[in-house]
Amino acid sequence: MKIHSVQFIISAARPSQFPKSHLPEIAFAGRSNVGKSSLLNCLVGRKIAKISGTPGKTQTINFFLINEQFYFVDLPGYGYAKVSKSMQQSWQRLIEGYISRRENLKAVVVIIDARREEIPPADLQMIEYVLSMGVHCIPAFTKADKLNRSAQARLKKNTFSQLPADVEPVLFSSVTGEGKRALQKILTHCLA
Ligand code: GTP
Ligand code: MG
Repeated sequence: MKIHSVQFIISAARPSQFPKSHLPEIAFAGRSNVGKSSLLNCLVGRKIAKISGTPGKTQTINFFLINEQFYFVDLPGYGYAKVSKSMQQSWQRLIEGYISRRENLKAVVVIIDARREEIPPADLQMIEYVLSMGVHCIPAFTKADKLNRSAQARLKKNTFSQLPADVEPVLFSSVTGEGKRALQKILTHCLA
């Protein structure tokens, strides 16, 4: 996956603002502060999405046009306890509305913190939801740079086995670039 152009298109707060396009799309979902924007930046090799130490930074659906051929879509983080329930519900509705109705959606990368030995229920629900919509789902376990060898082995042995049988997980680090090639390869396949 060679990326030669990236264009920010829109930060959408409601479906009417989604780009009217038939180009294929890949979306990036995950809990707040898990490292979605960092993964996206790492994948395209430039700083397109805002990163911050404050959870809940990405509050809208951000569309980036890549190579004028497909879109990468940064979804707002779910499950952030410090915003109001009504705010959480409105993001949830926005995310689910996007996933269920976007006909050109080819895959959703669900980003999970590699340090969690149990996959959080919200992430498993998201993975199952995406699969139930007939969309490819790639769980990406990020912040792998924070795991030593034995923790990585435990992740592969115990945590990966909690995933539905037909998904292929990727171990990723936005800091070292580990897993970048593997994820790009899978996404290229989904876009074809
Ligand atoms: P929201 O948009 O707020 O939901 O957050 P996000 O999921 O987009 O996370 P973001 O990319 O903003 O990263 C959150 C924090 O984790 C930042 O402090 C990042 O520097 C850090 N971080 C992200 N990815 C990695 C990684 O692979 N390794 C390490 N060590 N830190 C990371
Ligand atoms: Mg973000």
